[in-house]
Amino acid sequence: MSKVKVGINGYGTIGKRVATAVCAQDDMEVVGVTKTRPNYEAKVAMDKGLDVYVPDSSVKAFADAGMPAAGTLRDLYGEADIIVDCTPGNVGAQYREEYADAGVKAIFQGGEDHSLTGISFNSTANYRESWGVQFSRVVSCNTTGIIRTLYPIDRRFRVQKAFVTLVRRAADPGDSKGGPINGLEPSVDLPTHHGPDVQSIMPWMDVSTMAIKASTTLMHVHTVAAQLEREVSTEDVLEVMKASPRVRLVRNGSGIKSTAEIMELSRDLGRSRGDMYEIVVWEDGVRAVGNMLYYYQAVHQESDVIPENVDCIRSMCKLEEDARESVRKTNKAMGIPN
Ligand SMILES: NC(=O)c1ccc[n+]([C@@H]2O[C@H](COP(=O)([O-])OP(=O)(O)OC[C@H]3O[C@@H](n4cnc5c(N)ncnc54)[C@H](OP(=O)(O)O)[C@@H]3O)[C@@H](O)[C@H]2O)c1
Repeated sequence: MSKVKVGINGYGTIGKRVATAVCAQDDMEVVGVTKTRPNYEAKVAMDKGLDVYVPDSSVKAFADAGMPAAGTLRDLYGEADIIVDCTPGNVGAQYREEYADAGVKAIFQGGEDHSLTGISFNSTANYRESWGVQFSRVVSCNTTGIIRTLYPIDRRFRVQKAFVTLVRRAADPGDSKGGPINGLEPSVDLPTHHGPDVQSIMPWMDVSTMAIKASTTLMHVHTVAAQLEREVSTEDVLEVMKASPRVRLVRNGSGIKSTAEIMELSRDLGRSRGDMYEIVVWEDGVRAVGNMLYYYQAVHQESDVIPENVDCIRSMCKLEEDARESVRKTNKAMGIPN
């Protein structure tokens, strides 16, 4: 069977990771990535053997820098079955029409609105909704994090209402422009957009959210309080979490007290770029009291959505009908425990 040809528009935090993950699969391949600037990231991409395509307006800059492009963005549309749009938030929307005109499928990221595609994606909760469609959207890192744990808990115990506080990283580690560098910045537009974003995939879920931006680059941390339909035990909840795809339990008692040790763990695991694709839940921080459930989870914003992008390609390109099988394949190729 021939491999699905994937083009990646935007080769930043998410785009470069999607490229690595797609290259690791046996049923898809990267036919090109795009950059607007001929900087060090473009050079590394070329050195890795990736074909770098550029917008028309960047052709001269790349030629002047002695880094001739493989072609223009439009050339890439002609090479690809599907584009994974990893341009900055709200930029992807500007490309939707181009993708439509070129007749190429496209996946957008969480920085775009759900209304851009009308379909949003999570591997476990709604894989089949993107089956064969032209456009879909992988929800943001935080929304993916909330759905990864809340969906299996809802399936088993029925969540009546959930409340999540997100402590958000201020910038990605490779970003020297973001902030705050010393302060905690509450989002005052309440409740925050994350609840409605979860509902783009789980419309029945009564979930509301608040968020605080914190002076850290490593990960986000969520505190989750969920009211369940019935009384449950902490052990029952842990059993569900242990069986949930791409959820990793760690113990504060084993020395993993913060996001710093989680990042050290992913480096020790030898993960590409030190990434932690799983949502990390502190096992000894899970507590059920009556029908209330409380837990903490950490989200590696740079990488948790990457396996979902691979599964979304499989669903949109009709490569694998069974969600669990796609998740299994992606996990195996990326070194995520099944
Ligand atoms: N970073 C995260 O934590 C995270 C997590 C989940 C989802 N997301 C979402 O993923 C998307 C990408 O975010 P990111 O963090 O990867 O962004 P990023 O690191 O800023 O990378 C953006 C890339 O897009 C390119 N680009 C900029 N303007 C462009 C344009 N007009 N046309 C084509 N390419 C353009 C940039 O290329 P040049 O450098 O050459 O200009 C860069 O390679 C956003 O929707 C974001 O909300 C981000």
